[in-house]
Amino acid sequence: MPTRVFLDGEVVPAGKARVSVFDRGFLYGDSVYEVLRTFGGAPFALGEHLDRLDHSGAGLRLPLPPRVAIEAAVRVTLAAAGNAESYVRVMVTRGSGPIGLDPALGDRPVLIVIVRELELPDARLYRDGAEVALVSVWRNHPRALDPAIKSGNYLNNILALAEARGRGAYEALLRDAEGFITEGSSSSLFVVTAGTLQTPPLGAGILDGITRRHVIRLARSRGLVAEERPLRPADLTGADEAFICSSLRSVLPVTRVDGVPLGAGRPGPVTLALAAAYLDHARVAAG
Ligand code: PDD
Repeated sequence: MPTRVFLDGEVVPAGKARVSVFDRGFLYGDSVYEVLRTFGGAPFALGEHLDRLDHSGAGLRLPLPPRVAIEAAVRVTLAAAGNAESYVRVMVTRGSGPIGLDPALGDRPVLIVIVRELELPDARLYRDGAEVALVSVWRNHPRALDPAIKSGNYLNNILALAEARGRGAYEALLRDAEGFITEGSSSSLFVVTAGTLQTPPLGAGILDGITRRHVIRLARSRGLVAEERPLRPADLTGADEAFICSSLRSVLPVTRVDGVPLGAGRPGPVTLALAAAYLDHARVAAG
Protein backbone atom coordinates (compact mmCIF):
# COMPACT_ATOMS: atom_id res chain seq x y z
CA MET A 1 0.00 0.00 0.00
CA PRO A 2 1.40 3.35 -1.00
CA THR A 3 3.30 5.72 1.21
CA ARG A 4 3.29 9.29 -0.05
CA VAL A 5 5.27 12.24 1.23
CA PHE A 6 4.65 15.94 0.85
CA LEU A 7 8.03 17.68 0.68
CA ASP A 8 8.99 21.05 -0.77
CA GLY A 9 5.60 21.65 -2.25
CA GLU A 10 5.12 18.32 -4.01
CA VAL A 11 3.91 14.84 -3.22
CA VAL A 12 6.50 12.14 -3.90
CA PRO A 13 6.80 8.39 -3.28
CA ALA A 14 8.66 7.28 -0.13
CA GLY A 15 11.88 6.49 -2.01
CA LYS A 16 12.09 10.03 -3.41
CA ALA A 17 11.49 11.81 -0.10
CA ARG A 18 14.97 13.00 0.89
CA VAL A 19 16.11 15.86 3.14
CA SER A 20 19.59 17.33 3.50
CA VAL A 21 22.01 15.96 6.11
CA PHE A 22 22.28 19.62 7.15
CA ASP A 23 18.59 19.80 8.02
CA ARG A 24 18.34 20.77 11.69
CA GLY A 25 15.62 18.20 12.24
CA PHE A 26 18.24 15.57 11.37
CA LEU A 27 21.14 17.27 13.17
CA TYR A 28 19.40 18.24 16.41
CA GLY A 29 15.79 17.08 16.41
CA ASP A 30 15.08 20.79 15.86
CA SER A 31 11.58 20.20 14.58
CA VAL A 32 7.98 19.74 15.71
CA TYR A 33 5.49 17.10 14.67
CA GLU A 34 2.04 15.59 15.05
CA VAL A 35 0.73 12.09 14.42
CA LEU A 36 -2.91 11.40 13.67
CA ARG A 37 -5.02 8.85 11.87
CA THR A 38 -8.01 8.75 9.60
CA PHE A 39 -11.37 7.23 10.41
CA GLY A 40 -13.39 6.36 7.29
CA GLY A 41 -10.57 7.97 5.27
CA ALA A 42 -10.96 11.41 6.92
CA PRO A 43 -8.43 12.82 9.40
CA PHE A 44 -9.68 12.83 12.99
CA ALA A 45 -9.14 15.96 15.13
CA LEU A 46 -6.85 17.62 12.57
CA GLY A 47 -7.70 21.05 13.99
CA GLU A 48 -6.68 20.02 17.50
CA HIS A 49 -3.46 18.50 16.20
CA LEU A 50 -2.62 21.68 14.28
CA ASP A 51 -3.38 23.76 17.39
CA ARG A 52 -0.91 21.60 19.30
CA LEU A 53 1.62 21.95 16.45
CA ASP A 54 1.26 25.74 16.87
CA HIS A 55 1.90 25.36 20.59
CA SER A 56 4.98 23.23 19.93
CA GLY A 57 6.26 25.68 17.30
CA ALA A 58 5.83 28.58 19.74
CA GLY A 59 7.67 26.58 22.41
CA LEU A 60 10.67 26.15 20.10
CA ARG A 61 10.32 29.66 18.59
CA LEU A 62 9.93 27.92 15.27
CA PRO A 63 7.62 29.76 12.87
CA LEU A 64 5.24 27.42 11.06
CA PRO A 65 3.86 27.65 7.53
CA PRO A 66 0.30 29.05 7.39
CA ARG A 67 -2.32 26.64 8.67
CA VAL A 68 -4.15 26.58 5.31
CA ALA A 69 -0.93 25.39 3.66
CA ILE A 70 -0.55 22.56 6.19
CA GLU A 71 -4.20 21.53 5.81
CA ALA A 72 -3.86 21.53 2.02
CA ALA A 73 -0.67 19.43 2.23
CA VAL A 74 -2.44 16.87 4.42
CA ARG A 75 -5.37 16.73 1.99
CA VAL A 76 -3.31 16.27 -1.19
CA THR A 77 -1.02 13.68 0.40
CA LEU A 78 -3.96 11.65 1.70
CA ALA A 79 -5.59 11.79 -1.74
CA ALA A 80 -2.36 10.75 -3.49
CA ALA A 81 -1.84 7.80 -1.15
CA GLY A 82 -5.43 6.61 -1.48
CA ASN A 83 -5.34 4.20 1.46
CA ALA A 84 -8.53 3.00 3.10
CA GLU A 85 -7.18 4.24 6.47
CA SER A 86 -4.01 6.25 6.92
CA TYR A 87 -1.34 7.18 9.41
CA VAL A 88 -0.54 10.89 9.00
CA ARG A 89 2.62 12.52 10.30
CA VAL A 90 2.95 16.31 9.97
CA MET A 91 6.44 17.67 10.59
CA VAL A 92 8.04 21.10 10.40
CA THR A 93 11.83 21.41 10.71
CA ARG A 94 13.80 24.61 11.09
CA GLY A 95 15.49 23.90 7.75
CA SER A 96 19.16 23.62 6.78
CA GLY A 97 22.19 25.80 7.22
CA PRO A 98 25.72 25.90 8.56
CA ILE A 99 26.26 23.48 11.46
CA GLY A 100 25.74 25.26 14.78
CA LEU A 101 23.18 25.43 17.55
CA ASP A 102 22.03 29.00 16.87
CA PRO A 103 18.45 28.65 15.57
CA ALA A 104 19.06 31.63 13.28
CA LEU A 105 21.24 29.32 11.15
CA GLY A 106 18.15 27.46 9.86
CA ASP A 107 17.24 28.79 6.42
CA ARG A 108 13.45 28.29 6.36
CA PRO A 109 10.79 26.07 7.93
CA VAL A 110 10.33 22.87 5.93
CA LEU A 111 6.92 21.18 5.92
CA ILE A 112 6.81 17.41 5.52
CA VAL A 113 3.68 15.25 5.59
CA ILE A 114 4.07 11.48 5.60
CA VAL A 115 1.00 9.39 4.83
CA ARG A 116 1.09 5.64 4.94
CA GLU A 117 -1.34 2.82 5.44
CA LEU A 118 -2.58 2.65 9.01
CA GLU A 119 -1.18 -0.25 11.00
CA LEU A 120 -2.76 -0.85 14.38
CA PRO A 121 -1.19 -2.73 17.28
CA ASP A 122 -1.76 -6.48 17.31
CA ALA A 123 -5.42 -7.41 17.97
CA ARG A 124 -4.19 -9.66 20.79
CA LEU A 125 -3.12 -6.56 22.74
CA TYR A 126 -6.66 -5.19 22.61
CA ARG A 127 -8.13 -8.57 23.57
CA ASP A 128 -5.74 -9.53 26.39
CA GLY A 129 -4.37 -6.11 27.37
CA ALA A 130 -0.81 -4.83 27.35
CA GLU A 131 1.97 -4.99 29.91
CA VAL A 132 3.56 -1.72 31.00
CA ALA A 133 6.87 -1.20 32.82
CA LEU A 134 7.56 1.57 35.32
CA VAL A 135 10.97 2.43 33.95
CA SER A 136 13.96 4.02 35.68
CA VAL A 137 14.20 6.79 33.05
CA TRP A 138 12.60 10.01 34.32
CA ARG A 139 10.35 12.14 32.13
CA ASN A 140 12.03 15.36 31.05
CA HIS A 141 11.45 18.19 33.49
CA PRO A 142 9.17 20.88 31.96
CA ARG A 143 11.92 23.44 32.53
CA ALA A 144 14.46 21.31 30.66
CA LEU A 145 12.53 20.17 27.59
CA ASP A 146 8.80 20.61 28.19
CA PRO A 147 6.92 17.37 27.41
CA ALA A 148 4.02 19.57 26.25
CA ILE A 149 6.18 20.46 23.23
CA LYS A 150 5.97 17.64 20.69
CA SER A 151 9.43 18.07 19.21
CA GLY A 152 11.47 15.80 16.98
CA ASN A 153 13.74 15.08 19.93
CA TYR A 154 12.21 11.91 21.40
CA LEU A 155 15.32 10.45 23.02
CA ASN A 156 13.83 10.65 26.52
CA ASN A 157 10.93 8.49 25.30
CA ILE A 158 13.14 6.19 23.21
CA LEU A 159 15.37 5.42 26.21
CA ALA A 160 12.29 4.69 28.30
CA LEU A 161 10.78 2.40 25.68
CA ALA A 162 14.09 0.59 25.18
CA GLU A 163 14.14 -0.21 28.89
CA ALA A 164 10.51 -1.39 28.85
CA ARG A 165 11.00 -3.59 25.78
CA GLY A 166 14.15 -5.04 27.38
CA ARG A 167 11.93 -6.09 30.28
CA GLY A 168 9.35 -7.66 27.97
CA ALA A 169 6.75 -4.90 28.33
CA TYR A 170 4.83 -3.25 25.50
CA GLU A 171 4.95 0.35 26.81
CA ALA A 172 7.04 2.30 29.30
CA LEU A 173 5.58 4.52 32.00
CA LEU A 174 7.84 7.41 32.99
CA ARG A 175 7.87 9.01 36.41
CA ASP A 176 9.05 12.48 37.33
CA ALA A 177 11.83 13.21 39.81
CA GLU A 178 9.32 13.04 42.71
CA GLY A 179 8.11 9.59 41.69
CA PHE A 180 4.75 10.64 40.23
CA ILE A 181 3.66 8.85 37.07
CA THR A 182 3.61 11.14 34.05
CA GLU A 183 2.76 9.26 30.84
CA GLY A 184 3.84 6.53 28.46
CA SER A 185 6.61 6.90 25.89
CA SER A 186 3.94 7.67 23.28
CA SER A 187 0.67 7.40 25.19
CA SER A 188 -1.39 8.88 28.02
CA LEU A 189 -2.32 6.77 31.06
CA PHE A 190 -5.65 6.32 32.82
CA VAL A 191 -6.50 4.16 35.82
CA VAL A 192 -9.99 3.15 36.96
CA THR A 193 -10.62 2.73 40.68
CA ALA A 194 -14.09 2.04 42.08
CA GLY A 195 -15.59 3.19 38.79
CA THR A 196 -13.73 6.54 38.77
CA LEU A 197 -11.21 7.47 36.10
CA GLN A 198 -7.97 9.10 37.12
CA THR A 199 -5.22 10.48 34.91
CA PRO A 200 -2.18 12.65 35.70
CA PRO A 201 -2.88 16.40 35.31
CA LEU A 202 -1.23 18.47 32.56
CA GLY A 203 0.85 20.06 35.32
CA ALA A 204 2.54 16.67 35.83
CA GLY A 205 4.72 17.52 32.83
CA ILE A 206 3.07 15.56 30.04
CA LEU A 207 1.92 16.00 26.48
CA ASP A 208 -1.59 17.47 26.28
CA GLY A 209 -2.85 14.25 24.69
CA ILE A 210 -5.71 14.71 22.27
CA THR A 211 -7.07 11.20 22.82
CA ARG A 212 -6.82 11.87 26.57
CA ARG A 213 -9.03 14.97 26.18
CA HIS A 214 -11.63 13.11 24.16
CA VAL A 215 -11.65 10.21 26.63
CA ILE A 216 -12.19 12.58 29.57
CA ARG A 217 -15.09 14.28 27.76
CA LEU A 218 -16.65 11.00 26.68
CA ALA A 219 -16.39 9.52 30.17
CA ARG A 220 -18.06 12.58 31.72
CA SER A 221 -20.79 12.57 29.08
CA ARG A 222 -21.53 8.98 30.13
CA GLY A 223 -21.90 10.02 33.75
CA LEU A 224 -18.51 8.77 34.91
CA VAL A 225 -16.23 10.75 37.19
CA ALA A 226 -12.92 11.57 35.50
CA GLU A 227 -10.30 13.19 37.72
CA GLU A 228 -7.01 14.76 36.73
CA ARG A 229 -4.77 14.16 39.72
CA PRO A 230 -1.20 13.16 40.52
CA LEU A 231 -0.76 9.39 40.48
CA ARG A 232 1.77 7.30 42.38
CA PRO A 233 2.77 3.80 41.26
CA ALA A 234 0.56 2.39 44.05
CA ASP A 235 -2.45 4.14 42.46
CA LEU A 236 -1.74 2.12 39.33
CA THR A 237 -0.88 -1.24 40.86
CA GLY A 238 -3.87 -0.99 43.23
CA ALA A 239 -6.32 0.06 40.50
CA ASP A 240 -9.16 -2.11 39.20
CA GLU A 241 -8.38 -1.29 35.58
CA ALA A 242 -5.96 0.78 33.53
CA PHE A 243 -5.50 1.77 29.92
CA ILE A 244 -3.24 3.80 27.71
CA CYS A 245 -4.44 5.90 24.81
CA SER A 246 -3.05 7.74 21.82
CA SER A 247 -4.13 8.88 18.38
CA LEU A 248 -2.97 5.68 16.72
CA ARG A 249 -3.92 3.17 19.40
CA SER A 250 -7.19 4.77 20.54
CA VAL A 251 -7.91 3.08 23.93
CA LEU A 252 -5.70 0.07 24.73
CA PRO A 253 -6.23 -1.92 27.96
CA VAL A 254 -3.33 -2.43 30.39
CA THR A 255 -3.46 -5.72 32.27
CA ARG A 256 0.05 -6.18 33.69
CA VAL A 257 2.46 -3.84 35.44
CA ASP A 258 6.06 -5.04 35.68
CA GLY A 259 4.97 -8.64 35.16
CA VAL A 260 2.20 -8.53 37.81
CA PRO A 261 -1.48 -8.78 36.77
CA LEU A 262 -3.48 -5.61 37.33
CA GLY A 263 -6.98 -5.97 38.83
CA ALA A 264 -8.61 -9.08 37.40
CA GLY A 265 -5.75 -9.46 34.91
CA ARG A 266 -7.98 -8.84 31.90
CA PRO A 267 -9.45 -5.73 30.24
CA GLY A 268 -12.04 -4.24 32.57
CA PRO A 269 -15.64 -3.20 31.82
CA VAL A 270 -15.07 0.57 32.07
CA THR A 271 -12.06 0.35 29.75
CA LEU A 272 -13.94 -1.75 27.20
CA ALA A 273 -16.97 0.54 27.24
CA LEU A 274 -14.78 3.63 26.75
CA ALA A 275 -12.75 1.94 24.01
CA ALA A 276 -15.94 1.22 22.05
CA ALA A 277 -17.37 4.68 22.74
CA TYR A 278 -14.15 6.34 21.59
CA LEU A 279 -14.12 4.49 18.25
CA ASP A 280 -17.78 5.38 17.63
CA HIS A 281 -17.12 8.99 18.51
CA ALA A 282 -14.01 9.25 16.29
CA ARG A 283 -15.80 7.68 13.31
CA VAL A 284 -18.64 10.17 13.60
CA ALA A 285 -16.42 13.20 14.28
CA ALA A 286 -13.99 12.46 11.41
CA GLY A 287 -16.70 11.66 8.87
N1 PDD B 1 2.36 10.08 20.34
N2 PDD B 1 2.29 11.21 25.30
C1 PDD B 1 3.31 11.17 24.43
C2 PDD B 1 4.69 11.36 24.94
C3 PDD B 1 3.07 10.95 23.05
O1 PDD B 1 4.09 10.91 22.18
C4 PDD B 1 1.73 10.76 22.61
C5 PDD B 1 1.39 10.54 21.17
C6 PDD B 1 0.71 10.80 23.55
C7 PDD B 1 -0.74 10.68 23.15
O2 PDD B 1 -1.15 11.86 22.50
P1 PDD B 1 -2.34 11.87 21.44
O3 PDD B 1 -3.50 11.30 22.10
O4 PDD B 1 -2.49 13.31 21.13
O5 PDD B 1 -1.90 11.05 20.24
C8 PDD B 1 1.01 11.04 24.89
C9 PDD B 1 2.12 9.91 18.93
C10 PDD B 1 1.00 9.02 18.58
C11 PDD B 1 3.40 9.46 18.27
O6 PDD B 1 4.38 10.08 18.55
O7 PDD B 1 3.39 8.54 17.49
